[in-house]
Amino acid sequence: MTKPWRPFATTCCSVEGQTVLSNLSRCRPTRGEFSKKVSEGSSFRRLSFSDLSSCPSIRINEEFSHAMGSGLYAFQLSELRAITQNFSSNFLLGEGGFGTVHKGYIDDKMRNGLKAQAVAVKLLDIEGLQGHREWLAEVIFLGQLRHQHLVKLIGYCCEEEERLLVYEFMPRGSLENHLFRRISTSLPWATRLKIATGAAKGLAFLHEAETPVIYRDFKASNVLLDSDFTAKLSDFGLAKMGPEGEDTHVTTRVMGTHGYAAPEYVMTGHLTTKSDVYSFGIVLLELLTGRRSMDKTKPKNQQNLVDWTKPYLTSSRKLRFIMDPKLGGQYSVKGAKEVAALALRCVSSNPKDRPRMSAVVETLEGLRHLRDMAISSGVWPANQKPGRNGVNARPRREIKAST
Ligand SMILES: Nc1ncnc2c1ncn2[C@@H]1O[C@H](COP(=O)(O)OP(=O)(O)OP(=O)(O)O)[C@@H](O)[C@H]1O
Ligand SMILES: [Mg+2]
Repeated sequence: MTKPWRPFATTCCSVEGQTVLSNLSRCRPTRGEFSKKVSEGSSFRRLSFSDLSSCPSIRINEEFSHAMGSGLYAFQLSELRAITQNFSSNFLLGEGGFGTVHKGYIDDKMRNGLKAQAVAVKLLDIEGLQGHREWLAEVIFLGQLRHQHLVKLIGYCCEEEERLLVYEFMPRGSLENHLFRRISTSLPWATRLKIATGAAKGLAFLHEAETPVIYRDFKASNVLLDSDFTAKLSDFGLAKMGPEGEDTHVTTRVMGTHGYAAPEYVMTGHLTTKSDVYSFGIVLLELLTGRRSMDKTKPKNQQNLVDWTKPYLTSSRKLRFIMDPKLGGQYSVKGAKEVAALALRCVSSNPKDRPRMSAVVETLEGLRHLRDMAISSGVWPANQKPGRNGVNARPRREIKAST
């Protein structure tokens, strides 16, 4: 982290109730409407991002360059077109719920102080308001937060209706691709531990910041991997500032990805840092088993990873039946047992029983030295053959408690 994280000092604009930018009046389409909202008193803090959606892009650019300083570059659409060969499919890195991601190269002549490097350009499909909100949240959070386990946002583009994000390129793609793609070679146990520890450090950093941040979208596809498998969190579109003062939670529309969102959050909309801990527990289970948090291709009783794995997590004898067969038995039995116990605590139904992310980091770091390798991966019960792991994007979206 190069500078202390502080939310923008603000006077008026908010994303879902969080104040984020100053001087909204400059962005409002009509001053009269704005004044009306402000004069409504309590609605002042509830001004939503819809206010900025009609804000001229030139104003947004001004606001950002003002507030973010020189750490973030504003790019022109034509520049990003040029470096990605017009967003060619040959340069496609992946596609999520809100658009495509393309590889590009920038040279050292593009901007003063910006070194030549490969980048990932996310082209947001912002037809709905949600896409625009996420773009703004991403620039605001990632533009200000710097940490070795958060992906670096290099810049953005805001031109007319277009919204793009430019990140450092992560050569090994996402954890999701490594765990679930049929063609990929298996991640060794030590690498899985390294990834889990790195991602845990990223979350711990967010939770323990002076102004805590709840990430809200922790999942395997949002853990990106550097060439040496250093894990970095990406996608801050759903991130929220944590509760302030005496408050224990923030209340918000339930957004996230099925299979990763904490049950109490889905039921009540009450969001805490412990919601992220639950999602982290799910990814630990994915790392152990090589299975997706939700997998409709499996028999009914195995579709939900938490429900299926719970009875196996408490003993090493049982655990070997659910370990990822791709590991071929090459894992520390003691380490796996500890990870299983940790995952079980992370996915506790009572958020208070879940550990803090700093404690998770400590536990995981203590397992790195373990070298007791399993002799065999166990006998895989006939009805639990490892499934076919295709990559099927599960776009994050609003989650309804009833679903
Ligand atoms: N900085 C990056 N470097 C390399 N590849 C990236 C980078 N950012 C994203 N990708 C690739 O693009 C894919 C799509 O990312 P994106 O965040 O748009 O969607 P997602 O995480 O799969 O789904 P969701 O929309 O639910 O977040 C990722 O899975 C990853 O493979
Ligand atoms: Mg993502």
